[in-house]
Amino acid sequence: MGRIEVLIGDITGLSVDVVVNAANSQLAGGGGVDGAIHRAAGHQQLQNACRQLGGCPTGQVKVTPAFNLSAKYIFHAVGPVWYGGQRGEPALLASCYRQAMSLAGELNVASIAFPAISCGIYGYPPELAVPVAIEEVKSALEKNCTLQRVIFCCCDQSMAEGYQRYLNSP
Ligand code: APR
Repeated sequence: MGRIEVLIGDITGLSVDVVVNAANSQLAGGGGVDGAIHRAAGHQQLQNACRQLGGCPTGQVKVTPAFNLSAKYIFHAVGPVWYGGQRGEPALLASCYRQAMSLAGELNVASIAFPAISCGIYGYPPELAVPVAIEEVKSALEKNCTLQRVIFCCCDQSMAEGYQRYLNSP
């Protein structure tokens, strides 16, 4: 699957068309990657754009401009909080990736970078989130011809190894 890459680094510094944010359902900004994206994009202008969207339900994605990022768009994906896996978390996480990929197709973009949605403050175990993320992206790529690069951007080595291991598995 040549169009999928795994990188270690800060997602806000990537040269891609779409940076995906791991947002909350109020789209109110926060810590983690959300905080980093707000800082890099320009806190005030991104806050203003988010406020006009009226929130975003868990499992869904909304779009804003990317302002000071080099990207064209920010996709705000609201991942599930991990409660042990019995509250629909896998389906909600899958829905985030599916919606983001579908929106990328509608907007005809060539590249998109995902953080590990829900794997930080929301507590989703990375070893369970990685297969969900990769399977959704792979199945969307089978239908999407415009996307040339899908990047899983990780903060640390162990997360990146998780993606690589799964991608390399038979
Ligand atoms: N670049 C790439 N990845 C990052 C960055 C960054 N600059 N900063 C953090 N990460 C990684 C984390 O290490 C984690 O693996 O992104 C993943 C997602 O972590 P969180 O940002 O905590 O997102 P999530 O678990 O989905 O929690 C969302 O946190 O910040 C709040 O407003 C946000 O309430 C929402 C919640």
